[in-house]
Amino acid sequence: MLASQDVLSSRLEQIGFIDDPVDTKLDLYEEIERLKREKNAVLLAHYYQEPAIQDVADFIGDSLGLSRQAAATEAEIIVFAGVHFMAETAKILNPQKKVLLPDLNAGCSLADTCPADEFQAFCDAHSDHLVMSYINCSAAVKARSDIICTSTNAEHLLRMIPESQPVIFAPDRNLGRWLERKIGRKLVIWDGVCIVHETFSERKLLALKVQFPEAQVLAHPECEEAVLRHADFVGSTSGIRRYAREDAGQSFIIATEEGILHQMRKDSPHKHFIPAPPESGCNCSQCPHMRLNTLEKLYTCMRYELPEITMEESIRLRALKPIERMIEMSKGVS
Ligand code: 13P
Ligand code: SF4
Repeated sequence: MLASQDVLSSRLEQIGFIDDPVDTKLDLYEEIERLKREKNAVLLAHYYQEPAIQDVADFIGDSLGLSRQAAATEAEIIVFAGVHFMAETAKILNPQKKVLLPDLNAGCSLADTCPADEFQAFCDAHSDHLVMSYINCSAAVKARSDIICTSTNAEHLLRMIPESQPVIFAPDRNLGRWLERKIGRKLVIWDGVCIVHETFSERKLLALKVQFPEAQVLAHPECEEAVLRHADFVGSTSGIRRYAREDAGQSFIIATEEGILHQMRKDSPHKHFIPAPPESGCNCSQCPHMRLNTLEKLYTCMRYELPEITMEESIRLRALKPIERMIEMSKGVS
């Protein structure tokens, strides 16, 4: 009996399960700030995190900005308030540092559409192709890639690859097709999709445009073409944020995860932001993976330094090259 309890506790520890309810009287914001100082930890948060997490973060950004922060930080511990592939990227860049993710189950439906073994076979079947993978993929898929990109730098990087070089683009088919249309170049595209962005409804978007005729549509390239064709601007989360801040328009329909609205409303409190609705269900567009992280889990994760991201060194080394290539080749792109 005791032995099996030991096995269970060690397994729970491995997956970062902490059986210690958070004291409801604690000021979690203060506690997280204190833990950051005491442990020399940096807290990186993606725009899709809940507002309370964004408010306590040291850096809030898109996938490229957060990778750059992870590559440059001098902190001993990186706490990644985002999803697994983001924390994994931070670990690939910082093998000597502890990288923590508040909930180890915070995965990514898009990354899940691209299992490493099937991707390997796909690439082997197109062995003369250069492999460009969107950062939303596992370390094992990165390890089979020649270059990584994000939605901020994909177009820039693709334009640097000679026209004569055939290219595989994975795993997001909508971003891949958007790049094809933008650049006028054929790609071999993996058939992956994000559950949040594929559910935006063209029908409801058109109804919103009738209701708010002055509103511009700002969309993430992970959206389906049926939605993108109505967009006034297509770009990454940081691109969407910047466009809304700098444009003279006062009203915007936003087709991406609604967490981004927190910073947009802070940037421009007088402007009107309308989340684009999904086809069915509630009218929210939250990523179920991103939203697994909570302020409580963040606090517990920093207190116990668990769950921690680990990976095989051979995969890390192979995944590092295409990430470094991306960082090097997209200097100055934002
Ligand atoms: P960016 O923040 O790089 O635009 O990516 C969006 C996204 O889907 C992250 O999972
Ligand atoms: Fe993955 Fe989509 Fe969530 Fe981004 S929004 S983490 S692509 S499931």
